[in-house]
Amino acid sequence: MRVVVAASARSAARVAADLVEEFITASPSPALGLATGETMEAVFAELVRRHRDEGLSLAGVEAYLLDEYVGLAPCDPGAYRSVVHRLLVRHVDLRADAVHGPDPAAADLAAECARYEQQVRVAEVGLQLLGIGSNGHIAFNEPGSPLDSTTRVVVLSDQTRTDNARCFPAGQAVPTRAITQGIGTIGAAGRLVLLACGRHKAASVARAVEGPVTCDVPASAIQLHPSVTVVLDPAASSRLTKRVADP
Ligand code: GLP
Repeated sequence: MRVVVAASARSAARVAADLVEEFITASPSPALGLATGETMEAVFAELVRRHRDEGLSLAGVEAYLLDEYVGLAPCDPGAYRSVVHRLLVRHVDLRADAVHGPDPAAADLAAECARYEQQVRVAEVGLQLLGIGSNGHIAFNEPGSPLDSTTRVVVLSDQTRTDNARCFPAGQAVPTRAITQGIGTIGAAGRLVLLACGRHKAASVARAVEGPVTCDVPASAIQLHPSVTVVLDPAASSRLTKRVADP
């Protein structure tokens, strides 16, 4: 595992965008795993900037979402598919129909999870972006999620719902359930890039990177993956004890 501590949150986003750009330009048919959450917004903004100013093309990309809330209308601004459209697709040449995700409105959610699991596995995601929850979750795999879990419906923890409330208008309840790729699904990607910024992430980053691999800290499963880059700002790295690489 390579751990990179950038000088700031902004430069951490640039480092993550560099890795995405390298992957997209090197691969003839890039299957890119997208994460959502506040941390990813700076990465999307940087990809948009590179598209606008430097001609970076996402035209050949097929993108796969990690997770989606259950119970929101598809056009709800809080739905992850909406977020990705608003912050990325609308501003670049990534085709809207090249963004894939689970359908949380499907009549049979178990069948939908199985369908999406199969779709992601067949796609062979080459690079998967990841954030991390303050409780150590990746995607919506909450503490206790089996390390070999696959795409499924999960109940969100109170901590996650409290953390994510900032992404919803005041008065709108954060959904209680979501569809998420499993830890096993995520681990099948060719390369993982986990980005975390801010002091509120420092404890979960330290447990994920230096603690034991345990389902109590779902992000610790990245230690089992052969190709992982963890990109941090100084605050998120503040509880690491081992040496880290320069950007
Ligand atoms: C949500 C997403 C996760 C993401 C996490 C971190 O819970 N499901 O994939 O890692 O948010 O979010 P933020 O970057 O807003 O802290």
